[in-house]
Amino acid sequence: MKFFIDTANLQEIQEAYDLGVLDGVTTNPSLMAKEGIFGHDNVIAHYKKICEIVDGDISAEVIATDYEEIIREGEALAQLHPNIVVKVPMIRDGVKAIRYFSDKGIKTNCTLVFSAGQALLAAKAGATYVSPFIGRLDDISTDGMQLIEQIVLIFGNYGYQTQVLAASVRHSMHLLQCAEIGADVVTCPLNVITSLLKHPLTDSGLEKFLADHAKGNK
Ligand code: E4P
Repeated sequence: MKFFIDTANLQEIQEAYDLGVLDGVTTNPSLMAKEGIFGHDNVIAHYKKICEIVDGDISAEVIATDYEEIIREGEALAQLHPNIVVKVPMIRDGVKAIRYFSDKGIKTNCTLVFSAGQALLAAKAGATYVSPFIGRLDDISTDGMQLIEQIVLIFGNYGYQTQVLAASVRHSMHLLQCAEIGADVVTCPLNVITSLLKHPLTDSGLEKFLADHAKGNK
């Protein structure tokens, strides 16, 4: 299973990368805004900085919602770096654009996926990744994890190459359930990744080992 970090914060990206477990990065316009990155040139410069840190797929989201503009914006983003994945919303013109990008060999991440039907359309259009949003479904009392199960099953039935990129992941249980189900990728904040490190028996066990070692070295 691949781990992507879901942030535009360069320090957090660097920290996750330094841990040695990071396979890629996802961003979105809200995550860029959270870091105070506004304006075309600043956004582009920020994507370049992310690409310098991580050698893996970096999702950069288009702002356009009509076909021609999505193509124009996506092609410009794809030219920034070979690792850029053009993130396209699950809308009619987005699906058409994914087909165009796929035919051109440009990687895509279809975002804002909330149903298996949407995921199926994205896969048929040739998306590299589909991003079903678990947490946002949970927020409206719908089982986000069930959607991941459905999509993994459907893609498996037909051998679609599109990877299931579980997004809107809020905690380690989400991540582990995705791993059990067989999602290809999970994207999540740094704290979800680092929370996997933690177990109280590890802490108490290490404390005891070090204390016992110290006794013999007095
Ligand atoms: C990632 O690609 C998504 O944009 C992100 O996971 C959404 O997460 P949120 O629902 O926590 O905003």
